[in-house]
Amino acid sequence: MRIAVTKGEDLLGTLQKRNIHISAFCGGKEKCGKCKVRLISGVLPVTDVERRLLTKEELAAGVRLACCHKKCESDVLIQVEDVSDAVILGAEQEQYVTSRPEDGLGIAVDIGTTTLAMAVIDLRDGHCVSETKVMNPQRIYGADVINRIEACQKYGVDKLQGMVLQEVGKVIRQVLSTGQKISRMVVCGNSIMEHIFLGMDPRKLSEYPYVCEWEETQRIDSRELFGELMENIPSFPVIVMPNIAAFVGGDVVAGVTYTELDRRDKIMLIDLGTNGEMALSHEGVIYTTSTAAGPAFEGGNMVCGVASVPGAICRIQIDDEEVQYQILGTSSNAGNYRYGMADKVYPIGICGSGYIEGISELITHGMIDETGYMEQDVEVEGEIHIVPADIRNFQLAKSAIRSGINILCQRAGVSFEEIKEIYISGGFGKSANLAALINLKIIPKEFATKTRLLGNTALEGAIHVLLQNDDTRLSTIKARSIYIDLANDPDFPKEYVKNMYF
Ligand code: FES
Repeated sequence: MRIAVTKGEDLLGTLQKRNIHISAFCGGKEKCGKCKVRLISGVLPVTDVERRLLTKEELAAGVRLACCHKKCESDVLIQVEDVSDAVILGAEQEQYVTSRPEDGLGIAVDIGTTTLAMAVIDLRDGHCVSETKVMNPQRIYGADVINRIEACQKYGVDKLQGMVLQEVGKVIRQVLSTGQKISRMVVCGNSIMEHIFLGMDPRKLSEYPYVCEWEETQRIDSRELFGELMENIPSFPVIVMPNIAAFVGGDVVAGVTYTELDRRDKIMLIDLGTNGEMALSHEGVIYTTSTAAGPAFEGGNMVCGVASVPGAICRIQIDDEEVQYQILGTSSNAGNYRYGMADKVYPIGICGSGYIEGISELITHGMIDETGYMEQDVEVEGEIHIVPADIRNFQLAKSAIRSGINILCQRAGVSFEEIKEIYISGGFGKSANLAALINLKIIPKEFATKTRLLGNTALEGAIHVLLQNDDTRLSTIKARSIYIDLANDPDFPKEYVKNMYF
């Protein structure tokens, strides 16, 4: 897509205003190097930041960083890759168990900070009609929730709310175009995503004492929410999952529902995302916590990091000192490694599961020591490298998760050995390598034989709630949950330092 920008205009700001969705992990702070555009005509002098974050080849090809040009020196024409159309999954035919057949279709929505996942379910038989995953268009304002809160203050909550409503609205329109009835919609996300979805100011979630505007299940009419977007939208209830605390949102409640953690003892759920959220059931109480892992597990703040989109390197192995990898979006089977391009999908960067496996391999082959020291960049393919700065960011993320696990177990009074089952969810889905997670000490070795990788438990949980249509269970989960605040936990600092080591 080519965009004309007038002299004096802010380049990234102009793209944001026009709803052009480019990646801007750091939210325009000139740190991540992701907001790449290509200069077609006009002048955009190369800045010091661009010299540092872009390669010589990229600069020579006219690549620039949108956020480095707050006042364009001339009228310019730029080429932009719009990532909003990056549909990651197509329809996935699945059948869910339903005990109460009823007419119509239901829509389950998981608003992730990185991706939006939606499923249309036939409520008569639990049949999954379609499943869609798209990038969260709010990413143009940054990869993490703090960037989104800042953007709400700068541009208004309505602006960011509208971006998500538009995407969900596309699925609603698709369903309505078939002439079918929508009976209800169930929505979950972290507390900040849920606040924005409802058009509520999320500022209090980022300021002490970190409280939600609301915590209980919300019910709102579709016309109230989508009315401005779709004039003739029929009325149906939109149910938004309850929040447990500012940093443990409806997506965790959805995960608890799906894994039945509320009905079984000593079961643990770990979500490896930007915020590592965890829940552990013990003697009728659901202990929860959240730890700021940063976007490393989703490919953010890593030099060649990308989300789990086609072309992302999702698996890395080193054989005879040669790096082998697998790309998402190819038809190759898991475990069937390929070099270079496959099925015309080109490697564009490394996603979370690729880093997990790649860094684990580098440790096994002695290329990273236990302190995280790596002598030099490692080439994965062409200009795609793993670099020492990535290892530091990764260590921060992995230590945050492991420290959270350790303290949650201590506060619940449950040992690693006593936990019966552990479920891991996260943006990289079922593709993470469990052995690598243990090798990296992200999860304890005692979990090795009782851990299951589940993928997106939030969407599955939303589907569950959609089919059960039972608000009571949600209220019970909420009432039985307690939040362990790691920021004020006296043991957290020493755990955090200790767990930085590999
Ligand atoms: S460097 Fe421009 S958004 Fe991060």
